[in-house]
Amino acid sequence: MSNIYPKSGKYSDLDNVYAECSGPGGLELTEFMANKMNVSAGARLLDIGIERGFQTCFLAKEYGALVIGIDPDDDRSDGIAHIEHLLRNARKWGVEDQVIGLKLGVPETRFSSNTFDFVHSTTTLEMVRGIFGLDLYRQCLAEVFRVLRPGGIFGLGEPMHRDIPIPLDLAPIYTKGGGVGPEGWSACFATMEETAAVCCEVGFEVIESGNAPDAWNWWTEFSKHDPHCKADPEGEAKIIQQDGGRWLTYGYVIARKPQQADAHHRLIGT
Ligand SMILES: C[S@@+](CC[C@H](N)C(=O)[O-])C[C@H]1O[C@@H](n2cnc3c(N)ncnc32)[C@H](O)[C@@H]1O
Repeated sequence: MSNIYPKSGKYSDLDNVYAECSGPGGLELTEFMANKMNVSAGARLLDIGIERGFQTCFLAKEYGALVIGIDPDDDRSDGIAHIEHLLRNARKWGVEDQVIGLKLGVPETRFSSNTFDFVHSTTTLEMVRGIFGLDLYRQCLAEVFRVLRPGGIFGLGEPMHRDIPIPLDLAPIYTKGGGVGPEGWSACFATMEETAAVCCEVGFEVIESGNAPDAWNWWTEFSKHDPHCKADPEGEAKIIQQDGGRWLTYGYVIARKPQQADAHHRLIGT
């Protein structure tokens, strides 16, 4: 158990953690983000892109937050709605009074403006950028901005790439595949600086951004414990191994909605 992650260290069955999350870092990533965001007990928190809701339950159980988890999709393994998995896990974790799941996604959440104290989203919005483009990605961030209360905090974590050209041997694997269109995975991954700039464009003040110090450990764990990686060692697991931390990383942005934020609503026409 790592001393810097005492909360997630309690959930040590990584095969289970990676089966219920879907991305590098699992609960350690959520602990990293929640600590950076200063998530507090009783706070209203929106979790965007929940897969089976493990991180959502963790935020409720370990931080005492009241969490709404949203996800528009069904689980690719069993076809059950992600929010149903969230409810199953909430009962298992004993946090069913603190967690609500809704089958919807950004950018059209239909929540009232200024609703949440915190918004958390990891390993979700980069796929929106890759599949639907930067304009829709920007609309998603603008929606997060709208539903946060003034002074509220957004914690965004994403697979990102270092601010260097793709190494020549990696270019063929990142510019095709991933089921995300002609540019492949490279369309999903931006740099931390580019991501922070889009947050600023929609009105946020960036408090802190960076590449997570444990990024490569999280990618390695993911390649070993994620059920889809385990089932297809020649797929994503091989890409991660081939990269070896040269280009791919995991970046985060912690951003605040300014107290005087109304002027920015024009960006999304509200
Ligand atoms: C790769 S999983 C990440 C899950 C988890 N947050 C993690 O870090 O392990 C991405 C999740 O985002 C969901 N998702 C996709 N598009 C979304 C959208 N527009 N709004 C909210 N969630 C979305 C997917 O259904 C999936 O459950």
